[in-house]
Amino acid sequence: MSRPGLLSVADLGRGGIVEVLHLADSFAEVSERAIPKVPALRGKTVATVFFEPSTRTRLSFEAAAKRLSADTMSFAAATSSVTKGESLRDTVETVDALGVDVMVVRHASSGAPAQVARWVDACVVNAGDGQHEHPTQALLDCFTLREALAARAGSPPADDLAGVRIAIVGDVRHSRVARSCVLAFGALGARVTLVGPATLMPPTTQGWGVEVRHDLDEVLPEIDVCYLLRLQSERLREALLPSLGEYSERFGLTRDRARRLDPDLLVMHPGPMIRGLEIASGVADSARSLVTRQVHNGVAVRMAVLFRLLAGGLPSEPTGAGPAADEASPAGSGQGGARHG
Ligand code: NCD
Repeated sequence: MSRPGLLSVADLGRGGIVEVLHLADSFAEVSERAIPKVPALRGKTVATVFFEPSTRTRLSFEAAAKRLSADTMSFAAATSSVTKGESLRDTVETVDALGVDVMVVRHASSGAPAQVARWVDACVVNAGDGQHEHPTQALLDCFTLREALAARAGSPPADDLAGVRIAIVGDVRHSRVARSCVLAFGALGARVTLVGPATLMPPTTQGWGVEVRHDLDEVLPEIDVCYLLRLQSERLREALLPSLGEYSERFGLTRDRARRLDPDLLVMHPGPMIRGLEIASGVADSARSLVTRQVHNGVAVRMAVLFRLLAGGLPSEPTGAGPAADEASPAGSGQGGARHG
């Protein structure tokens, strides 16, 4: 039986999220030092076990583990015995047998990290599973937003996002980031609106605590933060869009649209960005964009998560209903849970 891990934002609840944010404040300070390293996890081993491509999430977890003085191991399916037909179970049990304390797992199947957690002794952290969840992305987004709002107000970062109006725009249906962000932003008191074509909305958002809209131009003047999602082309199994051009025109943060924005509106994107489709280059690189801060802060936030897990488990205070408890749950996501036996 595995130790406590982090599979969903719902594992944390509001109290757990705030605790991670506070810990991340301290680790952000560590990251600013000339030698950005502390001995906190000396003797521990963190393995990244990725069955799907990744740039920032994997590097960020590895940087976080190294800055805590943990040893790291890195597994990528494309260069492993998976290509020879080894099953998910045999693969993760092999990594576990090498002696790891935390396994950071990314997989194309919703529910795969939860299944892995039943098989291994290590703590399992979900680094993105299918269209289910990506909890550390949502945590670093909360951290980044709270930092940006504090800088603007000239005050210390708040423990909540009370009243902050956030639109999550684009391919919500296939986005694990959207599901984790809805839970995390909602738990901190933000007002979340989902915006996109009906074909890219989840079959139901009942219990998510969000509003659903289909006209970006109508929503933009009403919000503080525009959180853009990548069109998940690898998960688009049918023709859900008339054309990419039309998608960009209706739901992209184009240069034209950006000219009409409130100067205070903040823009976020989890990356990888498809410039020219969901976001114009000029917008991605503008002062209102938090994209680089999101990547930067990911390391401190993941240090906080790893530290809390190995220092005795993340606190549990379920957030209750929400995307993870609804159709986005592994059993109901339409992806059928972990496929490998
Ligand atoms: C996201 C992911 O892989 O879920 N990227 C990330 O981890 N920052 C978003 C995406 O792929 O669109």
